[in-house]
Amino acid sequence: MAVNLLLGLQWGDEGKGKIVDVLTANYDIIARFQGGPNAGHTLIFDGRKHVLHTIPSGIFHENAINIVGNGVVIDPVIFRKELENLKEYNLDFKSKLLISRKAHLILPTHRLLDAASETAKGKAKIGSTLKGIGPTYMDKTGRNGMRVGDLEMSDWKEKYQALTEKHLKMLAFFEVDIQFNLKELELEFCAAVDVLKSLTFIDSEEYLNTAIKNNKTILAEGAQGSLLDIDFGTYPFVTSSNTTAAGACTGLGIAPNKIGEVFGIFKAYTTRVGSGPFPTELFDENGETMSRVGHEFGATTGRPRRCGWLDLVALKYAVQVNGVTQLMMMKGDVLSGFKTLKACTSYNYKGKEITHFPFNIEEHNVQPNYTEFKGWASDLTTMTDVKKLPIELLEYVKFIENYVEVPVKIISVGPDRKQTILV
Ligand code: GDP
Ligand code: IMO
Ligand code: MG
Repeated sequence: MAVNLLLGLQWGDEGKGKIVDVLTANYDIIARFQGGPNAGHTLIFDGRKHVLHTIPSGIFHENAINIVGNGVVIDPVIFRKELENLKEYNLDFKSKLLISRKAHLILPTHRLLDAASETAKGKAKIGSTLKGIGPTYMDKTGRNGMRVGDLEMSDWKEKYQALTEKHLKMLAFFEVDIQFNLKELELEFCAAVDVLKSLTFIDSEEYLNTAIKNNKTILAEGAQGSLLDIDFGTYPFVTSSNTTAAGACTGLGIAPNKIGEVFGIFKAYTTRVGSGPFPTELFDENGETMSRVGHEFGATTGRPRRCGWLDLVALKYAVQVNGVTQLMMMKGDVLSGFKTLKACTSYNYKGKEITHFPFNIEEHNVQPNYTEFKGWASDLTTMTDVKKLPIELLEYVKFIENYVEVPVKIISVGPDRKQTILV
């Protein structure tokens, strides 16, 4: 059976967690393939809200196996808190939450290095979630990292010690004042490692390829979004992993010819947390309305998300890089009441009109050109049938489909599992 992928097409927080949770009923296995606790995936059902950071969003379904793939970076401390938050559900983690031995570990000093690097950057900071993501992936590609499988070796503490000492020297190099108590951090880390070790570690590439052979259904869950991809995003204001479709192959050990459908998720408008260019960003009442109605605050850091109109040039680029076969449009309900909507359909780039996503989208290079749409007044949040949706919304969707040349298969009209309309 082919592996289906689900990815964010913007700057993250498109609603991946919600849709993975909705789709899990159709899958045997849900596998996260990159990112780490910088992610915050929100699930709402039975009137309760859950935010997952490292644990895949299929965890609440009884029959699904959830895998944390080799491409993910794991902070045992945050992971432990996530497990504790799920305690009351009595989930059998040992059998339904499997961890790749090849996933890299975030050490306490990775978090400190992240903070030091951001502080040293000053105004040019990336706006990192400060979870240690960048330094951990740097150690991975620098061939210094520690992996989950190392924890099964007798010398893991020596490895940990050597890497920590190296990090402390690097910290001094930054010449910024970062306060910390290493002893306390290490106690917390070691206790959390013990919890992590109580779970099942697997050779996940072997597990998944055997599952494919045995016709199991697999959904790969992405974190962040395509515009935060280390190669194709708005570099350097990106995360440190490949958030695009190729990342699922390297982050799970699945060959490209095993990929089936690629589900691309986007918000009906755009948001971004942290620094970096954002051509369609709004600083007016419209932006404030999106932020207020959409509750646009980061699920991991609580920071306000910047809001703006839908950028179809960027969306088409993400669709292309990922090979998206089906689209899912989220948060259309937030736009109810707007008299007029806009979507960016080309850029003025250095004085010329272009429709592709260029090397640099900083404000001094790129100004958006908009197409306008008539808005709709009705509340969508109780609608369940595509035929009942306002004609103006359907026209907006049709325009998007024609522009990016991929059909929209799900329209989400609220945060709850149930507020999901299949087209
Ligand atoms: P993720 O990181 O892609 O999983 O997305 P987040 O959970 O960070 O952010 C999405 C936010 O939008 C969460 O608060 C969700 O509960 C909420 N949400 C998801 N879909 C919808 C929708 O269709 N309408 C509304 N109003 N909220 C939604
Ligand atoms: P989910 O999976 C939105 C952003 C940060 C920052 C940049 C780098 O919930 O969609 P990092 O901590 O990776 O060094 O931060 O990327 N960022 C996200 N923005 N959603 C996320 O994840 C994000 N993960 C990282 O705000 O700008
Ligand atoms: Mg999020």
